[in-house]
Amino acid sequence: MRSLVQTNAFIDGHWIPTDKRFVVTNPATGETLAEVADGDAAMAERAVEAAHKALSHWREKTPKQRADLLRRWYQSMLDNKQALGELMSAEQGKPIAEAIGEIEYGASFVDWFAGEAERCYGDILPTVSNDKRSWIIKQPVGVCAAITPWNFPNAMITRKVAPALAAGCTIVVKPPQLTPLSALALAQLASEVGIPDGVINFVPTTQAKEVGEVFTQHPRVKKFTFTGSTSVGKALMEQCAQTMKKVSLELGGNAPFIVFDDADIEVAVRELIACKFRNAGQTCISANRVLVQESVHDAFVEELEKSLATIKVAPGDADEVDYGPLINKDAIDKVEELLKDAQQHGAKLVTGGKVLTELGELFYAPTLLTEVTQAMRIAQEEIFGPVIAVQTFTDEAQGISRANDTPFGLAGYFCAQDYTRIQRVSEQLECGMLGINAGAISHAYNAFGGVKESGIGREGSRYGLAEYQETKNITLGGFA
Ligand code: SIN
Repeated sequence: MRSLVQTNAFIDGHWIPTDKRFVVTNPATGETLAEVADGDAAMAERAVEAAHKALSHWREKTPKQRADLLRRWYQSMLDNKQALGELMSAEQGKPIAEAIGEIEYGASFVDWFAGEAERCYGDILPTVSNDKRSWIIKQPVGVCAAITPWNFPNAMITRKVAPALAAGCTIVVKPPQLTPLSALALAQLASEVGIPDGVINFVPTTQAKEVGEVFTQHPRVKKFTFTGSTSVGKALMEQCAQTMKKVSLELGGNAPFIVFDDADIEVAVRELIACKFRNAGQTCISANRVLVQESVHDAFVEELEKSLATIKVAPGDADEVDYGPLINKDAIDKVEELLKDAQQHGAKLVTGGKVLTELGELFYAPTLLTEVTQAMRIAQEEIFGPVIAVQTFTDEAQGISRANDTPFGLAGYFCAQDYTRIQRVSEQLECGMLGINAGAISHAYNAFGGVKESGIGREGSRYGLAEYQETKNITLGGFA
């Protein structure tokens, strides 16, 4: 199998080395995987200039020409999914099968937006007066800049880059410091399939603030997109205001997972496990607060405990792994801090609650906590780890109000059977994405994004393209 390891920045179609390098490690073993070029603000400016230079040729290509190149990139990702998956698993820690699943998921955005490039329509507007005609065209925003996270090192890039390219924009990307290798491998494949120089540029760096400031403040950048925490998103949005950039932000979540008294308990447990343990719980749309109606609490917890006992934690390259290590020591510390706080305030540890030291220092046991209350930190903050924190509620109204009692509104989930309840609750929950009797809700066809402090804009779906387009209204006069 070919190696897709690249360790330099990718600008204007060239691999650019730097003297200063940073180390990328395997979280399962602590081994060094590579030393990667450490870009700085000057390199970020160079990348923006390259994207600007490439813009006019790229936007002049027909949608079909852009779509054809995107499809070649998509196919190349699938052809190389084993190598890409192994690389991702090594630097990020998720099981290889799950990493290959992410490659397919990431590639699906490229395929989807290739199609959307060809289905990009304007509008003919109603005639205002007989001597005039008006219509709307969609145009590329221009140079875009993206900052992407480490938890989905492939899909969070393609979900931004593919719609940008489909719309006719060029882009500069700062991949995460913890997982730059998956990003640089994508650059290599893009270049091999003929995506022109300068259309996609990658600046790996440890200097997130300096590079981020170039992305958010450079006058040539017209659109900025970020996936990460709400606090960083707010600061970046403020920086973008100076040049009035178009922004889309996928920020933190605090997803409720509600189990009502009419839920099918087996389905609820299965879907919660699928949702919670994806990527070891290091997922923005992971269930963070499990709210269970009092009358079904004991039955639900009993089933859940049985299922947790079957979960296999191991390095990502082992067989049949459910999840691997957390990303680093900070992630472990955060989980332990939240658990400690919850237990100090009366929560009960049913199972787990420890590092699996026999595997290594970053492996955390599947953990179940009950008697959690809304006031505890674990119910207020993103856990980002394999911990299920169960609270109870008395009736539907209380369940909904507890679920909405957060400044965040990314994903939400509930399990119920009564169709009138399904209708009522789905209208009242404050979130951008909702899973009903379903814990896996991500797909390129779906609109990913949040309400409240969880962000602005949507990714994927037909709405994802609009984030990279301007709407121009044209009026033609002079009709007799
Ligand atoms: C995320 O955690 O930000 C992305 C998860 C997804 O796309 O499903």
